[in-house]
Amino acid sequence: MKKVLVLHGINLNMFGKRDPAHYGAISLAQIDDSLRDLAPELGFEVECFQTNLEGEMVKRIHQAHGDGTDAVVINAGAWTHYSYGIADALAVLQVPIVEVHMSHVHAREKFRHLSVFASVVKGSISGFGVNSYLLGLRATADLIEKQG
Ligand code: DQA
Repeated sequence: MKKVLVLHGINLNMFGKRDPAHYGAISLAQIDDSLRDLAPELGFEVECFQTNLEGEMVKRIHQAHGDGTDAVVINAGAWTHYSYGIADALAVLQVPIVEVHMSHVHAREKFRHLSVFASVVKGSISGFGVNSYLLGLRATADLIEKQG
């Protein structure tokens, strides 16, 4: 069974409580449940990890290098826009990486338009709420297959 690691970054544990106009009412636990519900249909096992500490996120990414992870789906929250440390950690991975965002980042403040992960991810999906994650998970199926 293929293993997909879903990484949630800074402040994402507050989904359900923060800025409902952009993120709706869904909690992170509910997002993780939806991913786990979809996973068997795709033949995947999904592991979800959230942290508010940048170094912890980098450590988890390093661990993915040797733990059988076949693909990564990442919503790094605000780190997306400025963390070269996380970008460098992701760049070490040999597996496909898909970036996702709940909100439509390109329709929001200018600082959200930039992703410092752009050159290390296969693509990014934003603006569809929880469906951004589910579409991101679906995208990894094809990418894993192509990778062989
Ligand atoms: C977000 C968008 C980011 O700009 C923001 O900092 C977040 C959430 C999203 O899922 O829409 O924390 O990644």
